[in-house]
Formats: sequence, C-alpha cells, structure tokens
Amino acid sequence: MHDTIENLRHDLVSRVAQVDNTHELEALRVESLGKKGAVSQLMRQLGGMTPDERKEFGPLLNGLKDDVGQAIEARQKELVKKELSERLEREALDVTLPGRTYADGSTHPISEVIDEVTAIFGSMGFAVAEGPHIEDDFHNFTALNIPPDHPARQEHDTFYFGVDDHGNRPVLRTHTSPVQIRTMTSQKPPIRIIAPGRTFRCDSDQTHTPMFHQVEGLVIEAGTHMGHLKWTLETFAKTFFEVDAVRMRFRASHFPFTEPSMEVDIGCRFEKNRIVIGEGDDWLEILGCGMVHPNVLEACGLDSNEVQGFAFGMGIDRLAMLKYGIPDLRAFFEGDVRWLKHYGFSAFHAPDLPGGLAP
Ligand code: DAH
Repeated sequence: MHDTIENLRHDLVSRVAQVDNTHELEALRVESLGKKGAVSQLMRQLGGMTPDERKEFGPLLNGLKDDVGQAIEARQKELVKKELSERLEREALDVTLPGRTYADGSTHPISEVIDEVTAIFGSMGFAVAEGPHIEDDFHNFTALNIPPDHPARQEHDTFYFGVDDHGNRPVLRTHTSPVQIRTMTSQKPPIRIIAPGRTFRCDSDQTHTPMFHQVEGLVIEAGTHMGHLKWTLETFAKTFFEVDAVRMRFRASHFPFTEPSMEVDIGCRFEKNRIVIGEGDDWLEILGCGMVHPNVLEACGLDSNEVQGFAFGMGIDRLAMLKYGIPDLRAFFEGDVRWLKHYGFSAFHAPDLPGGLAP
C-alpha cells in the first residue's frame, strides 16, 4: 500500500507539472480527485481495513489527497496567469499608432460647403433648423405670402403630388423658405437659424438640376434691421470665399416673403475658365434676402408690431461651383467616382473657423 501511495503521488504530481493548459489540468483533477478518480478509489479501500491499518493509511491517504490538491491548485494559478498574458499579447492594440486615412472615400463638395456654411453661421450664433422635403401648400407658399394665384407659383416649376384624402396636394419643397415658417410656428423669438437642405424644381440644364440645395437664414428679434442683415451677409461672404476684399452689391428686388427685398451680387472677374472673387468689375448674383414681410410674421402668429427680422436664401450648389471652380452643375449628381476623386475633400477634415474652412 505504501508503494501504491508513493507511486501515485509521484505519478500525479509529475503529470500536474507537465500539463500546460487549464483544460487538461481540469481533466487531470477529475481523473485523480474526482468521485471516480484514482485517489478517491484508494480512499474507498479504507472502509475494508482493520482499525490499525486505517490508523496507518488514513493519514497517508489524506496527505496524498492534500498534496495532489495543492499541486493542482498551484499549477492552476500559474496556467491562468500564463493564459492571460498570452491572450493580452494576442489581442494587443497599439493605440499610439497614427490613424490610417481611408484613401478611397471623400466628402462631396456639397457636403463640404454645407459644413463650411454651418461653421461660419454657427460662429455667429445661428442654430441649424430642418424641415421635410415633402411640404404642404401652406408652408411652401401660402404662409410665405404667396397666395394661390401668385406668379411665383409658376416660376417655381413645382413638383406636385396627387391630391390626398384630405383634399391637399403635397409638393416637393421648391425652396428652403418653408423652414422659416416651421421655425416661427414652433419657436419663440429671438430666433437665429440657418436651414441648409435639398430643394426641388422641374428644371434641368447646365446650371439647373431638378434637385438642388439651398441654405435659408432667418433672424427674428425686436430691433433687428437691415444693417444687421448687411453685416451678417458681408461677414459670411468674406469668411466663405476667404477673401477680405469681397465687394457686395445689394440690388432692390422682389420676393413675396420679404419687404424690402434685395438680391446680392459679389464682385468678381470672369476669366477664360474661371471666376476670380474679390477682383474685377463683374458681378455675380449669389443670394436673395430682405426684411421678413409682416404678412409672414402674422401667418406664424407673431405680432408684426412687436418683432421683425431678416431672411436670406442662397444656392449651395452655386456657392460650391464658385468657390471650387466646378463648371457644370449636373456633374454634382452623376456619382462619377473620378469626378469625386478630383473635387472631393478628405473625410477626416471638418471645417471650422480656427482650424481653417477648406483643407
Ligand atoms: N426662396 C427664394 C428662392 O428660392 C430665395 C430667398 C429670397 C429666400 C429671399 C429668402 C429671401 O429667405 O429673403 O428663390
């Protein structure tokens, strides 16, 4: 019996030392100390022994059980440590490595210009507002002081939907101006928002596409006057075109939703294949603007004797063509990868004023 115990101890302890993963160690534990394990089977023999034998072998067998148990426990600790460090090494991530740019993706010039415009007006305290592409007659026309028989409705070449169950005829918004109405009916003055987004008109040639982009601006606050409007637009133009010498011309015009209304041109020079902003004697129209018409304020439930404000609307696609020298508007929406590679911007660049607008 002595020898059996010693052999078993020697055998098990040396096997424990050789095991090199926690799975095998567990199997070995079951094989030795489990219910049907070798050590347990020996201990079961105690039952058939004389009291003297039991006195002799009981402690020996218990010692064997303890020794094997301790060997397994110690080995378990070592293996857990070893497996953890192997795993850490395998799954290591070098967070100090510089980021790799994804060379094939780029930001579309329209998105870039929307981001630039948003950064500029954001720095002047304007929030970004949004509205639906599918509008109703009230928001797109009526509340903007464009009554049913007004010629502006024809000029807008509207895409109409069929008449719905309520007798209304939804439209694809023809401009971003309905966002003015949505903002004035849901927020109290002071209001200072821009609303960039898609607009739709049934029109297509080198300078028109059925889907295009505008950015609307709206400021409503007691005491707001045309001086604020002029300063805001001049500051915008200088920052956007990154030319301090930008000249602007405010021409009297007419829009149903503003009174007085103006169109704004910027000074430029037309060269063979490009337009130079800030030089020359030519003029290029970039936006419409004016003081919000009292009828529009009243349609939104505001008292036109208490508050007033200004609004403006510009074509984003036009701004992008001018600033980045893109000759044909239609190319914007063709999704040609070669064009995007040429005119696109790094997806890792976010325009802001301190960091610089364009990369
Ligand atoms: N909604 C006009 C258009 O699409 C642009 C416009 C002109 C917007 C004057 C304005 C504004 O807010 O004041 O042609």
